[in-house]
Amino acid sequence: MADCPIHLLKSLPIWLLFLLAIGSLSLLKLALNVLCWVYVNFLRPPKNLKKYGSWALVTGSTDGIGKAYSFQLARKGLNLILVGRNPDKLKDVSESIQAKYRKTQIKTVVFDLVGDLDEGIKRIGEAIEGLDVGILVNVAGVGYPNAKYFHDVDDSLISDLIKVNVEGTTKITQALLPGMLKRKKGAIISLGSGAANLIPSYPLYSVYAGTKTYVDQFSRCLYVEYKKSGIDVQCQVPLWVATKMTKIRKASFLVASPEAYAAAATRWIGYEPRCTPYWPHSLMKAVLSLFPESFVDGYILKYSLAIRKKAQQREAAKKQE
Ligand SMILES: NC(=O)c1ccc[n+]([C@@H]2O[C@H](COP(=O)([O-])OP(=O)(O)OC[C@H]3O[C@@H](n4cnc5c(N)ncnc54)[C@H](OP(=O)(O)O)[C@@H]3O)[C@@H](O)[C@H]2O)c1
Repeated sequence: MADCPIHLLKSLPIWLLFLLAIGSLSLLKLALNVLCWVYVNFLRPPKNLKKYGSWALVTGSTDGIGKAYSFQLARKGLNLILVGRNPDKLKDVSESIQAKYRKTQIKTVVFDLVGDLDEGIKRIGEAIEGLDVGILVNVAGVGYPNAKYFHDVDDSLISDLIKVNVEGTTKITQALLPGMLKRKKGAIISLGSGAANLIPSYPLYSVYAGTKTYVDQFSRCLYVEYKKSGIDVQCQVPLWVATKMTKIRKASFLVASPEAYAAAATRWIGYEPRCTPYWPHSLMKAVLSLFPESFVDGYILKYSLAIRKKAQQREAAKKQE
C-alpha cells in the first residue's frame, strides 16, 4: 500500500498540498472557462429575433458593419428602418436588400447625426409611429482619419466624435425606448470598440476611445435598468473589421469582414450585456490579458505612432505634388 495516492499525499508537506490544491482549482477554472467559451461562440442557439417585434432600426446602415447587419436582420425575417445621412447610399442599400429578401419591408430615414439632432429624432419618431420596432442597432460612428496626439485634434473632429458616437447613440436610444417599454420587449445593441474595452488604452485615438467607453458604460447601466422590463441591452465590442473606418481592405483571421462580423454579432443578441462576437477577437483579448498593461500600452503607442508617421509622410508628399 506504500504507493497508494492517499498515502503519498499524506506524506507531502502541508505547503505543497496547499500549492497542489490551488493549482488544481486554477486548472479546473481554466477548463470551465474554455468549455464556456466554446459553448457561447459555437454551440449556443441564437435567439429568435422576431420575438422582439417585427421591425428593426439600424443606424449607420449605409456602409461597413451597419450595412452587413441590415442584411443579416433581413435574412432573419425582420423589416427594416434604415437610418443614414446619404439618401443615395440609403436607396442603394435598401434596393439591394429588397432584391435579396423580397418579403422585407424597408423604410429609410435621412439623418445626419452631426446636424440637427432634434429634427432627426423627430423624423425617426414619424417613421416608427405605429410599428413594433423590437430591435435598435446603434452602429453609426465616427473615427479618427489618422492617429493624432490630442493637442493636434481639431475642434470639428472632437465635436463630430461626441455628437455621433455619444449624443446620437443616446438620443436615438431614448427615442426608441418608450415603445419597447410599452410592449415589454426589445433589444438595444450599440457598437462599442475594443479601443475602450479589449486593450488598456488606445493612444493617439483618445477621444474616439473615450466616446466608446461612454457607449459601453451607458449600455451596461441600461442593461441593469431595463432587464426586468424585458429589454435586452448590449454593447458589442469588435477589434478590427475591414471597413472604410479602419481603412483595412482585406479581411484576415484577426480582421473580420463586415459580413462575418455581422453574422457572428446577430447570434449574440439577447445574451450578455457586453460581448465580443467575432471569436478570433475574443481569443486576441485573452492573449492580450496575459501581458502586463504597461507592455500593451507601449506596443500600441508604437503602432499608433507608425500610423501617424505614415499619414504625415503621405500629407507631405501630397503638398509637394
Ligand atoms: N471597423 C472596425 O474595426 C470597428 C472596430 C470597433 C468598433 N467599430 C464601430 O463600429 C461602428 C461601424 O463602423 P464601421 O467600421 O462599419 O465604419 P464605416 O464603414 O465608416 O461606417 C460607419 C457608418 O456610420 C455612418 N455615419 C458616419 N457619420 C455619420 C453621420 N454624421 N450621420 C449619420 N451616419 C453617419 C456612415 O455613413 P456613410 O455611409 O454616409 O459614411 C456609415 O454608415 C462604429 O460605431 C465604429 O466605431 C468599428
